[in-house]
This record gives sequence, structure tokens and C-alpha cells, in this order.
Amino acid sequence: MRVAVIGTGYVGLVSGACLAELGHSVCCVDVDETKITNLKRGIMPIYEPGLEEIVVRNEKAGRLQFTMDYAEAIPGAEAVIMAIGTPSAEDGSVDMTAFDTAVQSVAQNVRGPIVLVDKSTVPVGTAERIERIARSLTDYPIDVISNPEFLREGHAVYDFLTPARVVIGSASSRATDVMIHLYGYLDCPKYVMDRRSAELTKYAANAFLATKISFINEIAHLAEEVGADVTEVAKGIGSDPRIGKEFLRAGLGWGGSCFPKDVRAIMHLADKHQHPLPIVRAAHAMNKRARERVVERIERTMEPIAGKKVAILGIAFKGNTDDTRESASVDLLSMLRARGATVCAYDPVAKIANDAIAGGPVVIHTDPYEAVVGADVVIVATEWEEFRALDLARLREAMIGDLLVDARNLFRPDDAARAGFRYLGVGR
Ligand SMILES: NC(=O)c1ccc[n+]([C@@H]2O[C@H](COP(=O)([O-])OP(=O)(O)OC[C@H]3O[C@@H](n4cnc5c(N)ncnc54)[C@H](O)[C@@H]3O)[C@@H](O)[C@H]2O)c1
Repeated sequence: MRVAVIGTGYVGLVSGACLAELGHSVCCVDVDETKITNLKRGIMPIYEPGLEEIVVRNEKAGRLQFTMDYAEAIPGAEAVIMAIGTPSAEDGSVDMTAFDTAVQSVAQNVRGPIVLVDKSTVPVGTAERIERIARSLTDYPIDVISNPEFLREGHAVYDFLTPARVVIGSASSRATDVMIHLYGYLDCPKYVMDRRSAELTKYAANAFLATKISFINEIAHLAEEVGADVTEVAKGIGSDPRIGKEFLRAGLGWGGSCFPKDVRAIMHLADKHQHPLPIVRAAHAMNKRARERVVERIERTMEPIAGKKVAILGIAFKGNTDDTRESASVDLLSMLRARGATVCAYDPVAKIANDAIAGGPVVIHTDPYEAVVGADVVIVATEWEEFRALDLARLREAMIGDLLVDARNLFRPDDAARAGFRYLGVGR
């Protein structure tokens, strides 16, 4: 099937490359010239395990193309997949400006019937709204599908090719048939439902997962008060299949490009309908508290924090990605700097924009042992697997101070103590 993918970011590039890998003929469109030029040369705009290999292979095989020109991608495509960013607006609603512009560009270039597949996370009612807009711009038949994406950055290729389910929100049997053909290769349940339910499914999924993390952080804080270890508690409850062991890692709370904006969006949606949504609001408040509590505990341990040197290991919002959007680690950097600490950082792949932190650029080292030289405290803020293998004694030797803040509970407190550290985990 001929497919166009609009927006070649984390979701669009992975979706386009994976659909090509499965035999479809895919053309990816983006307005970012550097991104498209680099992709044509085989240079990836993001770090995502396994992605480069399938992009390069499918480009060579002629199944995957990149362009800035809608007129090259749209005519002849049966399915056009929207993977445009939908960030938060100031008031917590979803900023649909880029998405709507892209829908108009698609409609203006249609030369036959298409199914417009919305993979971006968008407010409930968007499918109906953009169908009206698109149909007003062309006489060719356009049916809009809501097809929310559930991939995880860092596991995106695997998740796209082996999803737990595919959700297809449809109001047309023709469009449903195209979707079943598009995903025909996937051996997973395909839930066909109405479009509003599909759109809400995505927000409900992210709000639930965010709430689960906030819940374990709340228990972690209680564990600190009562002398329990939240990692043991998480094992104890997670083995119950009704609860499940995923998303029970206490730490700095959730961040990234999806949970924060999607939780704000569902709260905004609820406000619009005068619906209180108390559980999600509590999870949101708890998330802020998770970062504050770690900073307060550091302050209590090494008063005053002003003038101290803090090395932060990990700036990506989670391991296996270079994405620093709304990263808890970046929040931590800002909070510590605001209290007068000197901060520096290390991350295996992520970079940080110079304007992301108030007070100017942060020194980002290329080696973790170099980052901690002369530091009073080291904070492990992202759960990169490579951090588990750090030589704690070597870290300790390079530092002036002896405080290890394990904000992701990667280490055993005993091992840290043996290396000469005072150890501060979360909820233990
Ligand atoms: N990142 C994730 O893990 C993830 C997971 C599931 C769903 N989502 C959702 O998918 C959507 C995309 O997220 P993302 O992380 O891939 O965003 P992104 O910012 O990485 O990519 C968006 C791309 O769209 C391009 N773009 C903007 N305007 C355009 C236009 N008019 N025409 C063509 N391209 C245009 C941008 O240049 C950018 O490359 C969002 O709604 C997000 O919530 C993201």
C-alpha cells in the first residue's frame, strides 16, 4: 500500500520506517529541512535503538522516501498518517496549530480518495473536526481515522512492530478496511471503535500510567517516614496480576514529551465539561511533589546547598532516549541551581538546549567519572542501564563529597556504602 507520513519526529519516523519494513511504500514529509536533508543521507535526527538500521535498509530498497514537498507524497497515497507534535498551550489545552496546518496541506494535495489517519494525540472530537476541514478543501473522498499511538521512546521500533493492541477509531467501513490492510501483518488485537472513544483511550492510558507512577511515589514517601523500602513493597504488590509490576518504580516522577502534556490536556478537557477528575489531578500534584521531595532531602542532608557542586548523571527523561522534553532531571538541575548550587551533568546520548535552564548553559561532560570530579554530591537522575555498571568506588574517589543520591533506585544501598558513599535513594 502507498502511505504518506506527515511529521517525521519520534512517532512519524518510527511509524514510516516500520511500515516500510513491513512492505508498504512510504513517503515521509517534514517541514524541517535539516531533518529531511540528513535523513536522505542516512543521518538520524533522534536516538532510538534499531531505528537507523531499518531506515537505511528500507531507503536502499526504495520503500522509504523523505521529502519536504506534500505534492510528492500525497497524490497516490491510500493512507496519510498524521504524526505532528501536539504540545501544550499556556492554559494546558492542546496547541493544534501545527497539526491543523498540516491537515490543510494534505487536503490541498489530495488527488484521489484517502484515509487520513490521526496518530498524534489530540483532543476528543478532533477526527470529526478535521474531517470537516479537509472535506471543505477538496472534492475527493476523505475519511478520518483516529489511530492513537502507544509506542515508548527507547523501545519504539519494537513497540510499533509488536504492539499490545491497535486502536482504530472509525466512522466508515471503507476506512476501517484500509486500516486492517495497513496493519494486516500485526498479530495483536485490533479494537475498532468510534472515534471519540479512540481519542479518549489515548489520554486515559497516559493518565492511568502517570497515576500509577504517582501512586508508587506517594507510597515511597510514606516508606521513608516509616522505615520501609519501596523497592521491596513494589515487588510485593507488583507480583499480583491485578496490579502488575510495570510502572511501579519510585523516583523523580514522570516527564517526557507525552505524560505531562497529556495529563494537562485531560485535565483541561475535564474542566471544559465541569468534570472534577480528582484522581488525575492528585497524580499531577504528586508529580511535582516527587521532585521537590528529593531536593528537600538533599538540602536536609547537606545544608546549605548553596555553593555546593552537584553532578547529575542522566538528563534524558528516561533511559534509552535522547529526549529531554519535560525531563525530571532538567527540573532538578533548575531547582538546584535556583538554590545556589553549581551544576554539571553527563548523559550517554542526550543534549540539553542552552536556554532550557535559567541561569545559562550547563556543562555537559562526555564521561561520568569526569562529570563528578570535585563534586559534593552526585545524583543519578535517569535510569540508563549503563549507570548500573558504574564503578562506585571510582566515582567516590573523584569527588570531594560523599553523597550519592540514587533518584531512580538503581543501586543497592550496601554497595554504595561499601564504596564510601552516604546513600539517599527514594522510598528506602
Ligand atoms: N514521542 C512519543 O513517545 C509519542 C508516543 C505516542 C504518541 N505521541 C504523539 O505523537 C505526536 C507526535 O509526537 P512526536 O514526539 O513524534 O513529535 P516530534 O516533535 O518529535 O515530531 C513532530 C514532527 O512534525 C514536524 N512538523 C511540524 N509541522 C509540520 C507540518 N506542517 N508538516 C510536516 N511536518 C511538520 C516537525 O518538524 C517534527 O519533525 C504527538 O501528538 C505526541 O503526543 C508521541
